Amino acid sequence: MLGLKTKTDPAWVEVALSDELALLRDHAHLERKAAGHCITLMGQLERAETRLLEVAREELEHFERVCGILERRGEELKVDLGNKYVQELAKATGRSLLDRTLRMGLIEARSYEHFELLSQAASGELGQLYEDLKESEAGHHAFFISVAYEHWPREQVKKRWDELTTAESEILANIEWGPRIH
Ligand SMILES: [Fe+2]
Ligand SMILES: [Fe+2]
Repeated sequence: MLGLKTKTDPAWVEVALSDELALLRDHAHLERKAAGHCITLMGQLERAETRLLEVAREELEHFERVCGILERRGEELKVDLGNKYVQELAKATGRSLLDRTLRMGLIEARSYEHFELLSQAASGELGQLYEDLKESEAGHHAFFISVAYEHWPREQVKKRWDELTTAESEILANIEWGPRIH
């Protein structure tokens, strides 16, 4: 659960896997944007630059791996259609540095849970992909939480995490299911 308040309905995974190409495209863009956010935070979280660079590299490796699968299937990445869950989460959370750090931790935690569901339901190279990536995303979740505790007072982080996980659960409960990672 990685500190989240609710679990995803297991029926979600079938809808997510209903269009593998759409799922892969959404996934690739998420990895690309995760790397970009890490690079942005590098200029703002002064005690975490080196580790943020490591995470950015890992996200880019994930991005390349997903793009490789698309390529082998004769497909292109295409333009980013956006991910409604992430957009709603961005609206619900603030623009403060703490919120942006915790938001990364939230997305990583939910990605871990969804990769786990996907790894159990998908076969072949997709099953292997999600299996391989899930622990990495769990590690990223732990990283962003530890960065928050390094930069802000413990009580402030705990209180905000509590508020944001409540908001995240509501967003997840109301989001329309589709061939997307969230
Ligand atoms: Fe990733
Ligand atoms: Fe990640």
